[in-house]
Amino acid sequence: MLVIVKSNYDKLSEEAAKVVADRLKKKPNLVLGLATGSTPLGLYKELIRLHKYEGLDFSKVTTFNLDEYVGLPPSHDQSYHYFMQKNFFDEINIDPRYIHVPHGMAKDFKIFCSWYEERIKSFGGIDIQVLGIGANGHIAFNEPGSSLGSRTRIKTLTSTTRADNKRFFENEEDVPKYAITMGVGTIMDAKELLLVASGDSKAEAIKSAVEGPLTAMCPASIIQMHKEAFVIIDKPAASKLKGTYVDTWETIIFE
Ligand code: GLP
Repeated sequence: MLVIVKSNYDKLSEEAAKVVADRLKKKPNLVLGLATGSTPLGLYKELIRLHKYEGLDFSKVTTFNLDEYVGLPPSHDQSYHYFMQKNFFDEINIDPRYIHVPHGMAKDFKIFCSWYEERIKSFGGIDIQVLGIGANGHIAFNEPGSSLGSRTRIKTLTSTTRADNKRFFENEEDVPKYAITMGVGTIMDAKELLLVASGDSKAEAIKSAVEGPLTAMCPASIIQMHKEAFVIIDKPAASKLKGTYVDTWETIIFE
């Protein structure tokens, strides 16, 4: 695990975008795992800039998003599908046929979840998976207590997560109770992980994920078991860490 601490949110977003852009230049048909939430927005903004001004090409890229609210159609303005479309896909030259976001209105979720897993495999697996982290240590919608070997499935959202996400909905009751999410095991199968976190509200979760014990009570702590994981955070999110960490990935060679 390579922990990179940047001075602020913009710098961490640029750093994370550099890693993705580097992988994309080396493999034009990259299989890119994507996340929602406010944290990766800066990373997407920077990738859009690299596309518009430096010709970063997404035409052969396939994407798989981590999760989606159950009961929201892609057209709903709080669905993750809508979020991705508006904040990323509409701004780059991706082929819509290669975009995958779990379907919140699937007729049969069990069948859909197996299909999603198979679909990822059929593209040779995810090359690099972008991740955020919940204040309670969740990754995607794998809430505390999720099996560390879990696969794509339906999860009940905790009251903490629903409260954290209520800012996006008119009323708290409108926040969906269930989500469809890649499992922790699905995420761990990605060849590389790229976790981004910003702000002191994430400091405790980052401390548990990076330096705490490996436990299902902090699903993000599983990154300690991944062979090639980046954790790119800003100083406030790193404020509870005890270790000494680097400030750039460029001097480090992963082979
Ligand atoms: C949601 C998403 C997660 C995301 C988390 C944190 O619960 N399912 O994938 O990491 O929010 O979001 P934010 O970056 O807005 O704090």
